[in-house]
Amino acid sequence: MEKRVFLKNMALLSGFAGVGRYSSKIQDLLDYAKGKNPKELASDEVYWAQYRKLYRLKSEYINLESGYYNILPEEILEQYIQHIREVNLQGAYYMRTAQMAHREKATSQVAELMGCSVKELTLTRNTTESLDMIIGGYPWKSGDEAVMAQQDYPAMLDMFNMVAKRFGVKNTVVSLPIDPVSDDELVALYANAITPKTKLLLISHVVNISGQVLPVKKICQMAHEKGVEVMVDGAHAVAQLTYTLPELGCDYYGASLHKWLAVPLGVGMLYVKKEKIAKIWPLIAEAEFPEEEFDIKRLSHLGTHPVHAHLAITSSIAFYKKMGPENKLARLRYLQNYWTSRVRNIAGVLMNTPKDPERTCAIANVGIKTIPAKDVAAKLLNQYGIYTVAIDNSNVHGCRITPNVFTSTSELDVLVKAIKEMAGA
Ligand SMILES: Cc1ncc(COP(=O)(O)O)c(C=O)c1O
Repeated sequence: MEKRVFLKNMALLSGFAGVGRYSSKIQDLLDYAKGKNPKELASDEVYWAQYRKLYRLKSEYINLESGYYNILPEEILEQYIQHIREVNLQGAYYMRTAQMAHREKATSQVAELMGCSVKELTLTRNTTESLDMIIGGYPWKSGDEAVMAQQDYPAMLDMFNMVAKRFGVKNTVVSLPIDPVSDDELVALYANAITPKTKLLLISHVVNISGQVLPVKKICQMAHEKGVEVMVDGAHAVAQLTYTLPELGCDYYGASLHKWLAVPLGVGMLYVKKEKIAKIWPLIAEAEFPEEEFDIKRLSHLGTHPVHAHLAITSSIAFYKKMGPENKLARLRYLQNYWTSRVRNIAGVLMNTPKDPERTCAIANVGIKTIPAKDVAAKLLNQYGIYTVAIDNSNVHGCRITPNVFTSTSELDVLVKAIKEMAGA
């Protein structure tokens, strides 16, 4: 880039007020948390009650459906609105002069968070777009095989069904146990589905309907030993679990940043290991970056899109880092265990989430043996004022319960009471 243009872009960057600055409220929280370990903070209701104040929440219902997307803390929301105003003020001038520099900056911040090279990561609209781009753009040949699970996200399963029809690929679908006894059990489940014709394995980092966390690294090791590539659905893992992409060792990784990273709606990411980039057919052709260039920009063409959402990435990452990834994960696991441990052993209650804390995160799924999942969800909302989502899919029949950092234990007490009453305990 020409020096003159670069300097102009830097000047525009500084025109975006508010980014990276924090209110005194957050500063107080940071001071309070200093020197405390994540476990200690996880059960500190006074501390998390202050965090709750950073959000604007509906008083009409208890939101236990943060699995769909994360509402933004007020501070990020306000900064996002400023970005919308600024882009609208500058109009096409912004789009032509500063847009790309801002996108590159945001991309490099996400790459840094994920521990990978910026040449291996691109921003997309969501997980669906990221993973379906790989499934659809993979160089399939008739007779190739792919492996996935019934509990994977339907959009990816639908895409695999499409490529099966289009290219003659055979899909082998395994079913994940609700409460596995060991990582080996899960690794063996996938290993047994692999044949010499298998090319690609899809696994969920966090299973969306049950909250089960899969041993991604071990599954990748096993698959690679058999010459099979692994694509990971990380929709719920980014900014919930703590890891880097090189640690996992996968070949492809897609995620939605509007979930746990609390980026405004419509931002996702796609990671492709350097040496795999050239073989994927882009969703939208990008002539400037031909196959020989092992740069993910080949797969990055978006067309015109809501650029202000990309601008908010800086604020969302800063917020997450200030909260502390370990503190956040410890609190989310604490909240999940807070309510599941109170209902798990009740006769009439169906727990669809593993017991081992290492196999879980914020998300858990609970059913009532005698009541269909959709009726449980309706009762939770109408009788107890709790918003959740009903799941009736493969071996998971119940409501997905997803607290967030703003959830209080007193809200979870309402949930526990509701489950006990519905189960007749
Ligand atoms: C595991 C998983 N994968 C993919 C998706 C799709 O996410 P998006 O709609 O942001 O593409 C979801 C959405 O909830 C999900 O839970």
